[in-house]
Amino acid sequence: MSERKPLMVGNWKMNASHLEAIQMVQKLAYRLETEDYQRAEVVVAPAFTALRSVQLTIEQDHMLIGLAAQDCHWEESGAFTGEVSAPMLAKLACRYVIVGHSERRRMFGETDEIVNKKARAVLANGMSPIICVGETLEEREAGDAEQVVTSQVKAAMSRLDQPGEVVVAYEPVWAIGTGRNALPDDAGLMAEIIRDKIREAHGSDVADRVRILYGGSVNPGNIKDFMAKKHIDGALVGGASLDPDQFAAIVRYWR
Ligand code: 13P
Repeated sequence: MSERKPLMVGNWKMNASHLEAIQMVQKLAYRLETEDYQRAEVVVAPAFTALRSVQLTIEQDHMLIGLAAQDCHWEESGAFTGEVSAPMLAKLACRYVIVGHSERRRMFGETDEIVNKKARAVLANGMSPIICVGETLEEREAGDAEQVVTSQVKAAMSRLDQPGEVVVAYEPVWAIGTGRNALPDDAGLMAEIIRDKIREAHGSDVADRVRILYGGSVNPGNIKDFMAKKHIDGALVGGASLDPDQFAAIVRYWR
């Protein structure tokens, strides 16, 4: 079985101007030490308008923090007013692009098919998609969580050239921004189910390599319990990642 390096991603969502974003990444870097980066890959996902500034700050200060975008379009270029393409993000040295976040599925009508197209565009441009999946409260209460999540994973990962480069983030919709995190046992079980599904579709090498993150009200107080789960390889953090002290404490959960 391959070693999966823990991955901690701060999804800043629609927060922070580029000036604020520069300060946030500087504060985060100030709080982290070499050993933290050895133990975990640390990534921030600012808004599009802050990517260039954060990229330059990271490069100038030789920070070991990685950069992610929060979304992209699936076409390389063209008449898509307001959209940003994967090649544009690759040029900004993004390592990752979040695709299919539940906020985009719910508020902007993103379907499994669109998520799959975006994942393919991200891979084609040398970056890794962070594919978000997760059930709503109604789906969980109806006993459909497993079926919903596995079908999202299957659809998002169908016909990918490099499925082993993908990151999957399990984010139950009811746990996002609510302060009500999933039980670590439940999240750990869902991560295992996701890995089994990937094994079934793409084989053991891919399944052992793909990192599966948990997201939904992660904070410094609960991260350790999630990271103790065999199939959870990191976290996608929203609210708590806006505070460099809190996000640094999440990265350093093992201390
Ligand atoms: P919160 O950590 O604010 O619940 O957000 C989770 C999330 O949506 C990360 O993508």
